[in-house]
Amino acid sequence: MTLLAVETSCDETSAAVIRDGRVLSNLVASQIRLHAAYGGVVPELATREHLRNWLSVTQAALEAAGVPVSQVDAVAATQGPGLPNALLIGFQAAQAVAFALQRPFLGVHHHLAHLYSPWIGGTPPAADFAAFEPNVSLVVSGGHTLLVHVPAELEHRLLGATLDDAAGECFDKTAKLLGLAYPGGPEMDRLAEHGNPDAFPFPRPLLKEPDDNFSFSGLKTAVRYFLAKHPALLDNPARRRDLCASVQQAIVDVLVAKTVRAARRLGVPCVTASGGVTCNRALRRHLALACARHHLHLRLAERGVCTDNAAMIGILAERQFLRGHPPTPLDAEIRPHWELEDTGP
Ligand code: KG4
Ligand code: ZN
Repeated sequence: MTLLAVETSCDETSAAVIRDGRVLSNLVASQIRLHAAYGGVVPELATREHLRNWLSVTQAALEAAGVPVSQVDAVAATQGPGLPNALLIGFQAAQAVAFALQRPFLGVHHHLAHLYSPWIGGTPPAADFAAFEPNVSLVVSGGHTLLVHVPAELEHRLLGATLDDAAGECFDKTAKLLGLAYPGGPEMDRLAEHGNPDAFPFPRPLLKEPDDNFSFSGLKTAVRYFLAKHPALLDNPARRRDLCASVQQAIVDVLVAKTVRAARRLGVPCVTASGGVTCNRALRRHLALACARHHLHLRLAERGVCTDNAAMIGILAERQFLRGHPPTPLDAEIRPHWELEDTGP
């Protein structure tokens, strides 16, 4: 089966071609530079960029895969959650392509697509669902922080989520307080590599709570108050690196501890992590250490599919279709606030 997938939920216009679980192409036109000037994603600008780029990105993805559009068997797109007008561009464009080709159309949940991205790997990338293990999945991005129990493939039970800011949002907002460019996550990661993570004892929000929820806005506020008290610190490059490392460590400690604790409580053999924040080197290192310590198998999304991309949309759409999920009607609408629903017995 050959599937064309489109993703436009936020600030990346992406198209991918998937064939039988393999990623033939996965092109991403990033708008990061455009939004950086405003310190965050400007929805109106994102919409215009998607409109401007979706066709050329889609054509380029088909060309890179060596697949004429007439050979496409199904078309998928992100249905939600995401920025409403940004979602609309990719979703309606994909519906129109499906209509013109008279092929099934598949609307995909963005967070679930992240959740399955750790199963995409190898060269050329292929989805290794044969190695599926019951797991606890950490999905950690700019817009969401979720902990999900996945007892079997395509079965999900939401364990916890952030009560306020997402982990990526916390990286981005604290980075802004430190005067770093948007998006701050990658820049914090870079500076933190040469800083001391124990230099400043920032809070580990909800770490001691028995539930699986997260909260990061208090950490951001703690950094704000700390900087108000110690403004000169930002002028010292070494102390600035220590600050980045300390904030990063506070976020990482909470994510790792809560994920591993949930996996042990539920008795699953595997932990997965996905979403933009999974690019973070400290998070990857500390998850690996904690999982090794507790004899848990760790599947991390490869860096190339951590941030938003259409390959993860296509891989999940194909899997759902082959497992009997019905196509999405061509008059279906986007779902900007689509909550992750529990599925399975
Ligand atoms: O998954 P993604 O591309 O978009 C959403 O669905 O939200 O994630 C983007 C988020 C941003 O907050 C960005 O700062 C964060 O992922 N991010 C990182 C790193 N790379 C991206 N955060 C920490 N360290 C990184 N290396
Ligand atoms: Zn995402």
